[in-house]
Amino acid sequence: MEVGHAFLARLGKRRLRPGGREATDWLLEKACLRSGTEVLEVACNMGTTTAELVKQYGCRVTALDLDPEALAKARRNLAASGAGDRVTFVEGDATALPFPDERFDVVINEAMLTMLTPENRARAVSEYFRVLKKGGMLLTHDVLLLEDSPELVQGLSRAINLRVYPLTEEGWREVFEGCGFDRLQVRHGPVSLMTFRGMVYDEGLWGAIRVFLNGRKAENREFFRRMSGFFGAHRERLNYIAVASTKS
Ligand SMILES: C[S@@+](CC[C@H](N)C(=O)[O-])C[C@H]1O[C@@H](n2cnc3c(N)ncnc32)[C@H](O)[C@@H]1O
Repeated sequence: MEVGHAFLARLGKRRLRPGGREATDWLLEKACLRSGTEVLEVACNMGTTTAELVKQYGCRVTALDLDPEALAKARRNLAASGAGDRVTFVEGDATALPFPDERFDVVINEAMLTMLTPENRARAVSEYFRVLKKGGMLLTHDVLLLEDSPELVQGLSRAINLRVYPLTEEGWREVFEGCGFDRLQVRHGPVSLMTFRGMVYDEGLWGAIRVFLNGRKAENREFFRRMSGFFGAHRERLNYIAVASTKS
């Protein structure tokens, strides 16, 4: 069964995360990125943030994802943008990173930890702690529960065809602090993923129109409505959460 993020990518969406560009920009600002900063992007998918890290900030990026098809698309996108030579692509799993200790200045991981079981999530965040240099920063972006409701979590899992494990703010803080991170900076706000306004902000006007027109095609209509209906109906109960944590 096709999962929500693969579905949106097929419709032409390039940012597959709840808080979109607004949350990503806030996170990147926190990291004081500059030319030569060594960044690991976990769950890079098609490489949208990867390209931004290279082109806007001059970072050297290692871009990792579990999905070989998404990674192939990332390679094509980065090559087309002329930034491919500053990126190393790695097919791999966040819970067992194939890198030595203290290799990176920054790790960024958007819209993936929500998809992991609590055990795997702790494994992944411990791996981020291990591969970060002392003083390095972890940037994450996920789904936030504004109320601790199993029924809401089940509804979200059904809406996106994927079992997910979102947390409250307290829960997210415990994940990062439990793995050794401190000095957490947290921002949250409305889930903009499926709103027209959010889509225009993230994808541009024509990009947003393309996604909506594709979403109206007969073969896509039910899933598109289910996702946008769910996020619309629960906008008071779900937010995005962006967290910048430090390895002191
Ligand atoms: C919702 S998409 C987010 C993609 C991208 N970060 C963004 O924000 O647009 C989730 C991504 O996580 C990847 N992923 C899921 N589990 C993973 C794991 N254990 N290790 C690495 N990548 C994983 C999926 O292949 C997918 O590309």
